[in-house]
Amino acid sequence: MRIYTLNERPDYFSQLKCFLNKSLEKDFITDHMIKRCTINDPNYNPELTFLALEKDDLIGILIGVERIKAPKEVVEAQRNMAWIKIIAISPRHRNKQAFNRLLNAFLDEMKNKKEIKVANFASWHFHPGVNVEYEYYLENYLANGFMKYGEVVDYELDLKFFHVPRRILLNEKKLREEGLTFKIVDNEHISDVKEWIKNKFSPYWAFEAEVAVREKHGGLWISYDNNDNIIGFSVYGALEPNWFGPIGVDEKFRHLGIGSILLFKALNSLRLNGVRYAIIPWTQHLFFYSQIPGIIGIRHYYFLKLTL
Ligand SMILES: CC(C)(COP(=O)(O)OP(=O)(O)OC[C@H]1O[C@@H](n2cnc3c(N)ncnc32)[C@H](O)[C@@H]1OP(=O)(O)O)[C@@H](O)C(=O)NCCC(=O)NCCS
Repeated sequence: MRIYTLNERPDYFSQLKCFLNKSLEKDFITDHMIKRCTINDPNYNPELTFLALEKDDLIGILIGVERIKAPKEVVEAQRNMAWIKIIAISPRHRNKQAFNRLLNAFLDEMKNKKEIKVANFASWHFHPGVNVEYEYYLENYLANGFMKYGEVVDYELDLKFFHVPRRILLNEKKLREEGLTFKIVDNEHISDVKEWIKNKFSPYWAFEAEVAVREKHGGLWISYDNNDNIIGFSVYGALEPNWFGPIGVDEKFRHLGIGSILLFKALNSLRLNGVRYAIIPWTQHLFFYSQIPGIIGIRHYYFLKLTL
């Protein structure tokens, strides 16, 4: 087995999609996702993608990244960190050696870092953590000193079962009568909304809201109070055409049902786009999302990190 960077063997880029889908059985990785997490990630550096080759056969891959460009607001704060976006080893080569050789090739390049995280490289991630069903990957991370520091889930929805519950429609009617409005944002108004999301929530979510407005299959719902102040938002089709989120409501306006209305508005937009299987990625909310009809699965992930 020999290790190369993708920079040394760029011809292997075209094999990534099939290889990752073969080697990560719980993931469904599309061309769009590969591009988003590699060449369309402003932080991407092919020097940090490592390939394990046996003769000329690809048997393993590690895609690593440092936050060097975006979002610019967090670059300095994350100077001492790096991420492994994904490690994938072909099912026939799942031994310690393949995993460790790839990991060590990356760690050798990251000697100046204090912390290595796995998967949760916000906005340009394949998945938010290590799927607890991936026993081989999990065991090998833990054997190499990685520790669990959190956990999240993805919800999987079948929109064949989707409908907007009556209580949501009634609450929307009531809130509209009180002067609230719910609207889709167009390109013209995105900069105000982006600032609001960045200040109230995070630069990642502001970026994702902007992407949603730009993307053909994406969109951004906003709720305004009776003085036309923004009080909440929900996003669909931003990072992936079938992903919901992010969503957020101003603290002062929470628990009034505004979030649920924005949630159903964005899911309905996905339904109208013809999406059958939707994903709500990376969340710790249980009851907020369990009110949606048509939840058919949950994927559970551990956040892992290695302190150097
Ligand atoms: C999540 C969030 C958008 C909800 O907004 P909201 O306007 O308060 O939403 P709602 O009023 O519709 O629902 C609020 C709560 O009522 C509960 N609820 C909603 N409908 C309900 C019903 N019919 N019966 C019982 N409970 C219900 C929800 O479970 C939710 O509980 P939780 O806040 O403990 O999760 C808001 O809390 C927020 O902005 N949080 C910070 C950002 C965030 O975490 N976003 C989600 C990332 S995945």
